Amino acid sequence: MDEQFRQLEIDYDGEIPKEDVNLIENLFKYFSTDDFTYDLYDSKAIIYLNALDIDFFKQLTNDLINNSESITTANLLKKIIEKIDSIKSYGIKGNKRVYIGYNDERKVVNRDKKVEKRGQFYYADNNNFSKENNIIPDNFVNKIICGDSKEILKKLPDNCIDLIFTSPPYNFGLDYESTNDDHKWEKYFEKLFEIFTECIRIIKYGGRIIVNIQPLFSDYIPSHHIISNFFINNKMIWKGEILWEKNNYNCKYTAWGSWKSPSNPYLKYTWEFVEIFCKGSLKKEGISENADITGDEFKKWVYGKWSIAPEKKMQEFGHPAMFPEELANRVIKLFSFKNDIVLDPFNGVGTTTSTANILNRKYLGIDISNDYCDKALSRINEVLFK
Ligand SMILES: C[S@@+](CC[C@H](N)C(=O)[O-])C[C@H]1O[C@@H](n2cnc3c(N)ncnc32)[C@H](O)[C@@H]1O
Repeated sequence: MDEQFRQLEIDYDGEIPKEDVNLIENLFKYFSTDDFTYDLYDSKAIIYLNALDIDFFKQLTNDLINNSESITTANLLKKIIEKIDSIKSYGIKGNKRVYIGYNDERKVVNRDKKVEKRGQFYYADNNNFSKENNIIPDNFVNKIICGDSKEILKKLPDNCIDLIFTSPPYNFGLDYESTNDDHKWEKYFEKLFEIFTECIRIIKYGGRIIVNIQPLFSDYIPSHHIISNFFINNKMIWKGEILWEKNNYNCKYTAWGSWKSPSNPYLKYTWEFVEIFCKGSLKKEGISENADITGDEFKKWVYGKWSIAPEKKMQEFGHPAMFPEELANRVIKLFSFKNDIVLDPFNGVGTTTSTANILNRKYLGIDISNDYCDKALSRINEVLFK
């Protein structure tokens, strides 16, 4: 017998009648030999125990005890139950107690104390964030505003937005309607961080800033890391990262780099990143009746890899870099409550604002392009006046 089993020895006096030996054998057949098996000798039984549905075991064994005419059989079976029951240290898997190997999975002993000693999100310690949240002025509620976010956001009070969900211009050289998308990287990040500095100021204490980022792999610019560094250097808590798997396998067939040579192979990606940051606290205040995510959605979406096809209507909307409504839908439902105020400072044709409106959140969308703002507004009106 290998170490897969915990071995229990039980002595008994007397003789087990032949028919009871058969009954015990039949009873123990209910349990997988991977979980439980035994040897029966004269005056000794050895139990090999790995895992057991103990209630079911007791139920069957007690039936046999009650029906057996042999005191020896009854005593032996009672001793087996007692012996197994006396094992106080076990794991639980499904409806079984697990007697072997359950400690292997418990990797860290005294976890809480160790976390306290290490210090969770130490980089966000000593922040100066005020815990006092403010109400956003009415003229910014449920609005699409055309302008430069750097200027518009300055007009908002501190701590007044619940959730920011956005994807910044990527600096890929895309042809947006009214801005260039090919700046020197230093200039690009400088401008972006001016806007993100305002975002940090206006997000509520406990609010979230969530940024969808596609790094420009071909320029070897890890924008998702550079942007994450910016937020954590500014005392925001990095809550996590969602890998948005787009399954766009087109890229698989082009640009190999050094074909069949390790000299400079080119890596390919079918996914983008969604980075999540919290101001001051991981916990967001909200009324539980205003949580509208279902149990199934929650279970599925807290797994941090989302498989969602890229937006198919980019041509129809005349925008080269939209994210799909389903991405906004999941982010908004998982990270905000109904009636919260959701901002997108790079709103494009309004995927965030339109989804926020459908989900009964208040919205504010800002984009520098008049044309995109008009489209964002008509997406909302389509729903309102349907
Ligand atoms: C990646 S796109 C966002 C697309 C959007 N998520 C959607 O689904 O429609 C970035 C947007 O940022 C806008 N933009 C660029 N610079 C801006 C600025 N300084 N202020 C506001 N919007 C800006 C561009 O016009 C573009 O629409």
